[in-house]
Amino acid sequence: MSSHIRRIAICTGGGDAPGLNAVIRAVVIGAANRGWECYGIREGYNGILFPERYPEGGVFRLTRESVRGIASQGGTILGTTNKGNPLEFPMKMPDGSIRKVDRTDEIVEFFAKKELDALVSVGGDGSLTIANALHLKGLRVIGVPKTIDNDLDKTFTTFGFDTAVAFATECLDRLHSTAESHQRVMVVEVMGRYAGWIALHAGIASSVQAILIPEIPFDLDKVAAKIRARDSAGRMYSIVVVAEGAEPAGGHREILEPAEIGHAERLGGIGERIARVLQDRTEKDTRVVVLGHLLRGGSPTSFDRLAALRFGTAAVRALAENQSGVMVALAFPNVNYVALEDVAGRMKGVPLDCDTLQTGRDMGIAFGD
Ligand code: F6P
Repeated sequence: MSSHIRRIAICTGGGDAPGLNAVIRAVVIGAANRGWECYGIREGYNGILFPERYPEGGVFRLTRESVRGIASQGGTILGTTNKGNPLEFPMKMPDGSIRKVDRTDEIVEFFAKKELDALVSVGGDGSLTIANALHLKGLRVIGVPKTIDNDLDKTFTTFGFDTAVAFATECLDRLHSTAESHQRVMVVEVMGRYAGWIALHAGIASSVQAILIPEIPFDLDKVAAKIRARDSAGRMYSIVVVAEGAEPAGGHREILEPAEIGHAERLGGIGERIARVLQDRTEKDTRVVVLGHLLRGGSPTSFDRLAALRFGTAAVRALAENQSGVMVALAFPNVNYVALEDVAGRMKGVPLDCDTLQTGRDMGIAFGD
């Protein structure tokens, strides 16, 4: 691998997260300052695999002009997708069946043909696994950790998480007064996939009464007992935050759509299920709020913006230093680099001995165990 770089590309994959545009801006400006050209790939790798879908170009030049003022904007100017993983691309066979096909060679060939020297891949676990595979095929790749779920290993946090937690906290804060006025139980379902970070952080920040996370299988009798005890003490309302991936002890998680070739299962519905049981067991009027994709929208917080700008510029520095196959990570107080192979396919859930969880317990919050 020669260290000489003239042209790089950037792609964003998986679910969007606030801060993606700040990373793009940082990469484009960091590259421009070194005299490199930067190109954006549309919608994950679709801009390469399906150029015909984009009359204006599946891969297009990004200049200082194209990234002006975008750091504060949610979403991604490149577009993204969480379908059609190129490592397991769903292809229709002549007999009508769908098979997984590895299309990463086409991406590597595209880079060679277009004389693109390196890729900055911004994404979560799926995107970083693809990035690692491309690196192993000889492409120079740097990963940047994104996800509102905060479930990536080897980085203190991902960008997008702080914005999601800030918004969830604001929503929970707003629910206290209406719950109290009506003496209700409010069940609030938040995203997070198989990790409980958003539920845990927002729930503690807003002083809710119960937090149910995938890492702690729950028993609703214990949650109902907590709600009744509050009632007896004259606190006639309760707020229960549940992570979408939480499941009852001995039970199963709620799934909206099963996994298919090329995309993961869709979680959702646990809030409704819990609300029905809690209404039954506490005889209290119960309502459900699903925050869902609202958590992915909006302007990134200053923390996420700064993290995203630090990650983007650090990715460019890594390329200038001739690195490949690494992800930029946050290791307070600095960013560092970790091997993509140590991140790909690994998930970081809430450790049961972490002080944040203990803080919740010490504050009297029920975790259903
Ligand atoms: O990984 C981010 C995330 O928002 C998860 O929290 C959630 O389970 C999933 O994406 C939802 O994806 P989709 O955009 O397909 O609904």
